[in-house]
Amino acid sequence: MKHPMSIFDLSGRAAFISGASSGIGLHTARTLAKAGAAVALGARRADRLEAVVAELRTEGHKACAVRLDVTNPSGIAPAWQEAESQLGLPVDILFNNAGVIYVERFTSQTHDEVSRIFDTNLKGAFLVAQEAARHMSARGHGSIINIASSSGLRAGGQMSSYGASKAGLIHLTHIMALELAGKGVRVNALAPGNILTDMQAQFAERGIESGILKRIPMRRFGEASDLDGATLLLASDAGRYMTGAVIPVDGGQVLSWM
Ligand code: NAI
Repeated sequence: MKHPMSIFDLSGRAAFISGASSGIGLHTARTLAKAGAAVALGARRADRLEAVVAELRTEGHKACAVRLDVTNPSGIAPAWQEAESQLGLPVDILFNNAGVIYVERFTSQTHDEVSRIFDTNLKGAFLVAQEAARHMSARGHGSIINIASSSGLRAGGQMSSYGASKAGLIHLTHIMALELAGKGVRVNALAPGNILTDMQAQFAERGIESGILKRIPMRRFGEASDLDGATLLLASDAGRYMTGAVIPVDGGQVLSWM
């Protein structure tokens, strides 16, 4: 009998991680590689990932870096193709993670910044997921993990464009799950709470970090590694009957939002 933990094994699988140069994306690329997957790290400055790719290869993992700007629609298909050709495997896991934040009152949000948020977090994520879904559904197998946010589940002040983009991504997750279930492609979302990455610095700069901490029932900010369990569940056969799920990983934050 197989060990029960073997259902989390990603050997022979290949994952594409968007926004892999920092924070959650970079951490998750390492996690998926350690779980056995070949990994393609997508970032606007792929050259910056050379050291990480070299480190992963030294550890015995199959890894590559590909240039990807999710706001450039014509660059997405070539990035996917490049990932599959460099890894020599069909990519069957997408960690759809590239994202940007904007903390500002609704009436002061500027047109340029609102466009940047929606173009990256919603349209960019949409187009990357669409590219993934086309390949995965043709092969009848795949898992797409959209990185949403607790801000997409509950309203938070000064987060109008960001929260709306993430709520849109959650709704998109549901529709994709519905359309792709019959094609062997599962689509789920993670809704992280406040995770300690560069993005979190925006809250610190505005002096609202301590107020946020008070509303987290577990009384600590999250680490990127706090997402590992849910990510491996959704990426692997352990989650084989899960699609359309939105999993909060937030220390209970959405329960006590305001
Ligand atoms: P981060 O700022 O370290 O990572 C975001 C990554 O996306 C960066 O590597 C950045 O270069 C990349 N990116 C931005 N625009 C891009 C574009 N046009 N094309 C390709 N890559 C692009 O922040 P973090 O925290 O790691 O964020 C990762 C994801 O997690 C984001 O989608 C974010 O909205 C989400 N998230 C983060 C939370 C947090 O508290 N840190 C909470 C909830 C969700």
